[in-house]
Amino acid sequence: MKIAVLPGDGIGTEIVAEAVKVLKALDLPFEMESALVGGAAYEAHGHPLPESTLNLAKAADAILFGAVGDWKYDKLDRPLRPEQAILGLRKHLGLFANFRPAICYEQLVGASSLKPELIAGLDILIIRELTGDIYFGQPRGRRVATDGHFPGAEEAFDTMRYSKPEIERIAHVAFQAARKRNKKVTSVDKANVLETFQFWKDVVTEVHAQYPDVELQHMYVDNAAMQLVKAPKAFDVVVTGNMFGDILSDEASMLTGSIGMLPSASLNSKNQGLYEPSHGSAPDIAGKGVANPLATILSAAMMLRFSLNQEAAAQRIEAAVQKVLVQGLRTPDIYSEGTTKVGTAQMGDAVVKALG
Ligand code: NAD
Ligand code: IPM
Ligand code: MN
Repeated sequence: MKIAVLPGDGIGTEIVAEAVKVLKALDLPFEMESALVGGAAYEAHGHPLPESTLNLAKAADAILFGAVGDWKYDKLDRPLRPEQAILGLRKHLGLFANFRPAICYEQLVGASSLKPELIAGLDILIIRELTGDIYFGQPRGRRVATDGHFPGAEEAFDTMRYSKPEIERIAHVAFQAARKRNKKVTSVDKANVLETFQFWKDVVTEVHAQYPDVELQHMYVDNAAMQLVKAPKAFDVVVTGNMFGDILSDEASMLTGSIGMLPSASLNSKNQGLYEPSHGSAPDIAGKGVANPLATILSAAMMLRFSLNQEAAAQRIEAAVQKVLVQGLRTPDIYSEGTTKVGTAQMGDAVVKALG
């Protein structure tokens, strides 16, 4: 089982170190190889996704990714920015299906900014299409406007687009995931305004005909953003495009107590996967040893489940995470009165110990 380990920047290195600690403690025959990615790779090799890193990722059974980015790179030409590394990996590996499960652990009900009764027992799954939409649509760029409100003015443009097969395959992923859960899919769109998302809605509806046992609901993205904080437990599986999924999953992370609790899996059609927390490199807390490593540790559990066929080991990690929460250990982002504040490494050590 070959795992490519790509820690990246900022807290990426701190949280991945803890996940690696946990993986090593499982005593399974993993071959782990690390490489630079993002700003760290730019500094060393002049490119955020060097050929050698991409090749390591391609040859691996699974990729454990931390996070990339730092404000100091914001002025670089776009192809050299750290974020291009994760976008490039998603594109080159065809990682179109992004799973972001928002689960509220009982012990963290008080850590959320929402009322306990809204989130107690929450278990929803956001499925975000990850290789299309306005993120990758061409053309894009800057030019002088020849029409619009200000002809002759400088303007910038991106292209929102989805092809039918792209929508079909993510819709299948969502319906199949729902079949293993509460059999309800909410497809989030903006069909009232955007042609791309009217098409999305039409294609999802067409695919739904093959899943009569699953309930399908359509919802506009603005309403979905509101419903997610009004009655989050009314959702089961949420399927949406790249951009809306990015925004809604960060919103959903707060239903779990913290963005430091939201893992993710990004899969291609061969079930090869990249596993990363849903959050970024958090430059504001990087280097302080306070980042929550649990989203990354839980992403490692998803990796064992989806790409490495190690369901028992995945469950062992999830049970260990639950146990440290029961013990009352909290990084600052999930701290509440009466619990014990710990740092990143202490949290990782506690999970290792809780593995038994
Ligand atoms: P962010 O997710 O890095 O941080 C947002 C807020 O959440 C910050 O206050 C941060 O301290 C906090 N936070 C995030 N993860 C945490 C954790 N594990 N424990 C405790 N607190 C945590 O988002 P941002 O600040 O908007 O972006 C920072 C950089 O990260 C940018 O360069 C951005 O492009 C990049 N980014 C990368 C990825 C990725 O690599 N997949 C994802 C999102 C953002
Ligand atoms: C995420 C991040 C990325 C995205 C950025 C860093 C490119 O926000 O993984 O959610 O927008 O997809
Ligand atoms: Mn995001």
